[in-house]
Amino acid sequence: MRILGIETSCDETAAAVVENGTKILSDVVASSAEMHIKTGGIIPEQAARQQVKLIIPVIQESLKEALNWSPKSASSPPPVDAIAVTAGGPGLIGSMLVGVETAKTLAYIWKKPIVPVVHLLAHSYANWLRNPPYPKFPAIVLTVAGGHTDLILMKNHGNSYWLGGTRDDAAGECFDKCARLLGLPYPGGSSISSAAEKFLNLHHASANLRLNLFPRPLIGEDNLDFSFSGLKTAVLRETDWLKKEKKEKLPQEKIPKLAAEIQEAVVNCLVEKSAIAIRKHKPKSFLLAGGVAANIRLREKLSRAVENMKRCAFHVAPARLCTDNATFIASYAYFNYEPLTWKKIKAIPDPIEASKVYGNLKNKLY
Ligand code: KG4
Ligand code: ZN
Repeated sequence: MRILGIETSCDETAAAVVENGTKILSDVVASSAEMHIKTGGIIPEQAARQQVKLIIPVIQESLKEALNWSPKSASSPPPVDAIAVTAGGPGLIGSMLVGVETAKTLAYIWKKPIVPVVHLLAHSYANWLRNPPYPKFPAIVLTVAGGHTDLILMKNHGNSYWLGGTRDDAAGECFDKCARLLGLPYPGGSSISSAAEKFLNLHHASANLRLNLFPRPLIGEDNLDFSFSGLKTAVLRETDWLKKEKKEKLPQEKIPKLAAEIQEAVVNCLVEKSAIAIRKHKPKSFLLAGGVAANIRLREKLSRAVENMKRCAFHVAPARLCTDNATFIASYAYFNYEPLTWKKIKAIPDPIEASKVYGNLKNKLY
């Protein structure tokens, strides 16, 4: 079965064709990151306007690349079995509407089934876009991105329980905001990550390197929640203090260490809560997903922690598939194939609300 996936939840405009949920036939992503570098972050209205321009060319390119298909007339359908679209968040409403309304129109004209997909639940399907062995159930997923940080227990495809998540900012958002405070460019997660890696490579032999400047909120508490807004405030205080000391300019030589400190605080919280979730639910697999899963330190520390716990296999996709793209949207739709009539599909930006409507996500009391 071939599914055309469409994803426009944030600033990317993406389309992909995936066969049987596991084989990528095409993967096209147009990012407007360059536009956002100038403004230091996403301006939702501008992102959506850009997506309106890009959506049709991106879909056309993905169909051409996968199937060598180009439209002969507006209504001639491509040889795909269904269309999958991000209809559930997290997402920016203007951006989501571009993908959702385009997908609905194409489904209507081409007479194809359409599957609404929740971005939050779909991220973990990057782990199926490869050769076997696939993750075994029950699995715990840590999805950590710019708009969400959640722990989810997957008993099977389509049978998931929300275990906990951030009470305020997502980890990726925290990276992005802290990067701004350090004067590092957008997207902040990868800027902090490369500054931190350089620092760690220089100091890896130093036995007394301690990275404990910033707080680890909710660590030590017996729950599966996260909180990253306090960390952001602590970084703001530190940078303000350093600026005052040096008369308004953050000393450049302090930036790599600060980046490593921020990264360590975020990674520690994520690893600690994941370990609690594994001890409690004893899954066969642990899946790391979402844009922040591109972070090398997180991948290393989490894989070590999971492997130390035995009988639980650690899975993470290549960094390219962890950040937003349409392959995992199409893969999710294959394994959770529940088409809806286009008339009933609407964009729902809140991920938990959307997961209950489209994704059958249940709450599990801790
Ligand atoms: O999954 P994603 O592409 O979009 C959302 O669904 O939010 O994730 C984007 C987030 C951004 O906050 C970005 O800063 C973060 O992922 N990110 C990283 C890294 N690469 C991207 N965070 C930490 N380390 C990285 N290497
Ligand atoms: Zn995402």
